[in-house]
Amino acid sequence: MEIFLDTADVAEIRRAAQASLIDGVTTNPSLMAKVAGDGDPRDLFVEICEVVKGPVSAEVVAIDTDGMVAEGRRLAELHPHIVVKVPLTEDGLKACRTLRNAEIDVNVTLCFSVAQALLAAKAGATYISPFVGRLDDIGHDGMELVAEIREVYDEYGIETRILAASLRHPRHVKEAMLLGADCATLPPAVLYKLMQHPLTDSGLQRFLDDWKKLDKEL
Ligand code: G3P
Repeated sequence: MEIFLDTADVAEIRRAAQASLIDGVTTNPSLMAKVAGDGDPRDLFVEICEVVKGPVSAEVVAIDTDGMVAEGRRLAELHPHIVVKVPLTEDGLKACRTLRNAEIDVNVTLCFSVAQALLAAKAGATYISPFVGRLDDIGHDGMELVAEIREVYDEYGIETRILAASLRHPRHVKEAMLLGADCATLPPAVLYKLMQHPLTDSGLQRFLDDWKKLDKEL
């Protein structure tokens, strides 16, 4: 499963990329607004693309097809790593088809049902982003959606990649892996929690304590 970092914070992206922990980045308008400040958001996208050697999702903010296509084309011209992110609306799906016909990769976002995921695939989506945590927030089982999409895509031989999104904790990530999501996008805090285990820490301490008794250098 590929791991993407769900942030527009370049320092966080650099830290994870330098450790080879991530395969790409996803952003959304809320994440961009947190860090873009007075700068040009397009410069920020380019900076992110130069740090990470993989796909970088950049979301349109127009809500009509023509506007999304125009923004998507401009975003795609910024850097070869850009994947244009469009919302799962009728206009968004039409924009997806047009952009895919122009060989631009598209991530269809804000997916909350398996039927939506099928329609995104028909529109040629490169990635579909089911929002797990936001379904959990309203009392649904968000991970069940990932399982349903996997089943339907496999049943019909659909190649759209399942990008599990809105993941809030390590258990979400584990479940996404076990269900066969192609990719998962994680906030930085969740990424670093994945590598922590108390038995790793206590085991390391015991090794170091025992080594001290030898009083030797390596
Ligand atoms: O990738 C989508 C993600 O940014 C949404 O996460 O936590 O705002 O639901 P969240």
